[in-house]
Amino acid sequence: MNSNNKEITVVAFCCLYCAYAAADLAGSMRLQYPANVRIVRTPCTGRLEVEFFLKAFENGADGVLVAGCEEGSCHFKEGNLVAKRRVNYARKYLQESGLEPERLRMVNVSSAMARQLTDHIKDMVETVRKLGPSPLNKAKRQQQQEIKS
Ligand code: FES
Repeated sequence: MNSNNKEITVVAFCCLYCAYAAADLAGSMRLQYPANVRIVRTPCTGRLEVEFFLKAFENGADGVLVAGCEEGSCHFKEGNLVAKRRVNYARKYLQESGLEPERLRMVNVSSAMARQLTDHIKDMVETVRKLGPSPLNKAKRQQQQEIKS
């Protein structure tokens, strides 16, 4: 996922109705956010299982952002509340596994909150940059470099 040893990658799961629409609006407004982010559109954050977050880390993400509708505004009633519980559970799991829980975060935005979404993305990227590449990826990158040399 990331060929540069020093740079990090954040996967952002964005629900179609609010967060993805806000990301789309950010593009229309020409708002900038770091290129380290890979946006993955999902029908609702409630669709995201804990395994999705763990798989993202396993496949090279250094951080995972879950962006859903504001609480009380999920288009599938309580999907974002389910996601919130899963994110909290996954954060505990990450901590027990030796990964910083700050690498996983959930935010809530409306479709009109393009600026807030880009601010959340920038903050997440900055947080993960401070933490550095995921230890899972460091080992993978070292192996890849050893194979190349
Ligand atoms: Fe946006 Fe459920 S539709 S979080």
